[in-house]
Amino acid sequence: MNLNIALLPGDGVGPEVLAQAVKCLQAVEETFNHEFVFKEALVGAAAIDKKGKPLPQSTLKLCQDADAVLFGAIGDPKYDNDPEAKIRPEQGLLELRKSLGLFANIRPVLSHPSLLHKSPLKKEIISGTDFVIYRELTGGIYFGEKKLNKEGTVASDLCEYSETEISRIAHLAFKAAKGRKKKVTLVDKANVLESSRLWRKVVTRIGESYPEVTLDFLFVDNAAMQLVLNPTQFDVILTENMFGDILSDEGSVIGGSIGLLASASIGDENALFEPIHGSYPQAKGKNVANPIASILSAAMLLEHFGLMEEAMAIKLAVDKSLRKGIVTPDIKSKSQFGTQQVGDYIAHSIVDIEDNFRV
Ligand code: IPM
Ligand code: MN
Repeated sequence: MNLNIALLPGDGVGPEVLAQAVKCLQAVEETFNHEFVFKEALVGAAAIDKKGKPLPQSTLKLCQDADAVLFGAIGDPKYDNDPEAKIRPEQGLLELRKSLGLFANIRPVLSHPSLLHKSPLKKEIISGTDFVIYRELTGGIYFGEKKLNKEGTVASDLCEYSETEISRIAHLAFKAAKGRKKKVTLVDKANVLESSRLWRKVVTRIGESYPEVTLDFLFVDNAAMQLVLNPTQFDVILTENMFGDILSDEGSVIGGSIGLLASASIGDENALFEPIHGSYPQAKGKNVANPIASILSAAMLLEHFGLMEEAMAIKLAVDKSLRKGIVTPDIKSKSQFGTQQVGDYIAHSIVDIEDNFRV
């Protein structure tokens, strides 16, 4: 298969982890005889520094023309503590999601058998966790009207959803559940919010056309508690933009490190793949950031194009590195392996796995 992949390294550790994902895709390319063409562009603080905007027009164009986007990370602390800053790196990612129509953000959460001890949660609680969050990504409070009065003393952000925005992601969530454990949990705050009541109405109606899938509901406060009390109860969690943002960071505690969680952002015409972690500026250039979330994002990219065996080769190679302890210090504190060594090991194992298949 020929794929044009736009690479957006972004800020902090983004470039380092993305480089490892590219190595793995190149290993897949060689082993399975595909042709991947990579083109790189600026985004985030890196783009503000060089071009004055977090999402330059040329970057957006490159992404629109590509088959898929592989994204590193975004954010720079110099903007975080300045409430007056008009331009922020994160705007680049938000604009990109909106312009590419990436309405569904898919975040799998798994407990890895060899990492159960890494989670601050008890083994018995997290063992066997396997759920996926379907987070709405281009609506809600993130994109509603924002206001600040003249005096700068009153501010508001509108949380607005339309039936269309709810139903298109709900269909994806139900379809995913059909191929999994056949359960969708809608997380909302329908006891308080009008927008949540609309979600319930629309999702309930759509659920009727998926009779094999059970639908249940949880208020977001309860969901936050259930996620750490009894995470194995979940299969597909469907939720709006901000609740999904918050719950997916909480979910990362189950996996043992936020450096392991990958995500896919899907629209009708475009797709983007990125780790859920941020730019981790303290680690920039130190060769310590975990590349696995980025590498697993590349595996999700392959799955998106139906390259299941190729994606599996990456996932098995990642498993092997975790089992053998070829991991970064977030997983094993005194590890002598860095970002690049872990990336190299996984990329080489991809080749091995394919050889094993042939024998
Ligand atoms: C995420 C991030 C982004 C979000 C930020 C960087 C805008 O936290 O992808 O989860 O809030 O969506
Ligand atoms: Mn987030």
